[in-house]
Amino acid sequence: MTELERIDKAAAYVREVLGEAQIGMVLGSGLGDYVEALTDARMIPYDEIPGFPRATVPGHAGELWVGTLHGSRVLMMRGRFHSYEGHPLDDVVLPIRVMARLGIKTLILTNAAGAVNLNFAPGDLMLITDFINFSGKNPLTGPNIDALGPRFPDMSRAYDRRLRAIAAQAALEKGIELREGVYAWFNGPTYETPAEIRMARVLGADAVGMSTVPETIAAVHAGMQVLGISCLTNMAAGILEAPLSHREVTETAERVRGTFRTLLDSVIAKLNE
Ligand code: HPA
Repeated sequence: MTELERIDKAAAYVREVLGEAQIGMVLGSGLGDYVEALTDARMIPYDEIPGFPRATVPGHAGELWVGTLHGSRVLMMRGRFHSYEGHPLDDVVLPIRVMARLGIKTLILTNAAGAVNLNFAPGDLMLITDFINFSGKNPLTGPNIDALGPRFPDMSRAYDRRLRAIAAQAALEKGIELREGVYAWFNGPTYETPAEIRMARVLGADAVGMSTVPETIAAVHAGMQVLGISCLTNMAAGILEAPLSHREVTETAERVRGTFRTLLDSVIAKLNE
C-alpha cells in the first residue's frame, strides 16, 4: 500500500463514521476536554481507524471527534502522535493529511510550550508567527506525495495571516492578552538544556516545544491554512533556578484551560461569520 492509499483509506473511514468537517483542531496538553463543547458529536478511538498508529501508552490511545461548534463542523484530535514516542513522522502527520483529504482547509494547532522570550511568563498564550525546526527531521522526507502538494513547498507564510488577525481580534474582544512569537521544535523527550535555550533565543525563538512543527509542515504542504497557539506552561530550561517538571507543565495548562477555550471559541465563531 502506498502512503497515499493509507491516508485515503483512513480518510474514507473517518468520512463514513464521523462525516465531513470544515475546521480541524489538534488539542494540546490540558485542552482535551474541549471536545465537550461539540454538539451533535460523534467519536472514533484512534485504534479503530485503519492505518492509524498504535498508541505507545496503553489507555491513552486518543480520539477523533466531529461535532458542531458555533455553526461549523469541527474535527478535533484529542491526543496527538509525537516523534519522541518513536512514531515515524509519516505517522505523526497522518491525521493532518487525513483532514486535508476530507477537505478541511483550516487547521488550528494548539500545544504546551516553554517560554524562551524573557518577557513572557508561564500562563501566557502565544500566537505562533513562525517556526524553527531544530529537530533535523522533516515529515516530507522521502518521495513526494504529488496528490497532496509540491516537492518544495513554500514555508514563508506557514501560519496564515488572516487566521492570525482573527485570533488577535478575538483575543482583544475577550480581553485576553495574546503574545506573539516564533515556536522552535526540539524532538524531546528530554527538555532542552540551558545552553540549547540560550542558542534558541539568540537564533530567534520565543517558545520551545516537542510538537506542532511537523503537523504545520504537512498541513502547509497539503494547502491548508494553519493557526498555531501555544500555552506557555513554564519558563524554558535555565531561566529560573527550579528544574523543569512535567507536573508544572500540566498544572499550568490546567490553570489556563478556561482562557484558552474562551479564545478558541471566539476564533471558531469568527470563522463562521
Ligand atoms: N520544552 C519543550 N517542550 C515543552 C516545554 C519545554 O520547556 N514545556 C512544555 N512543553
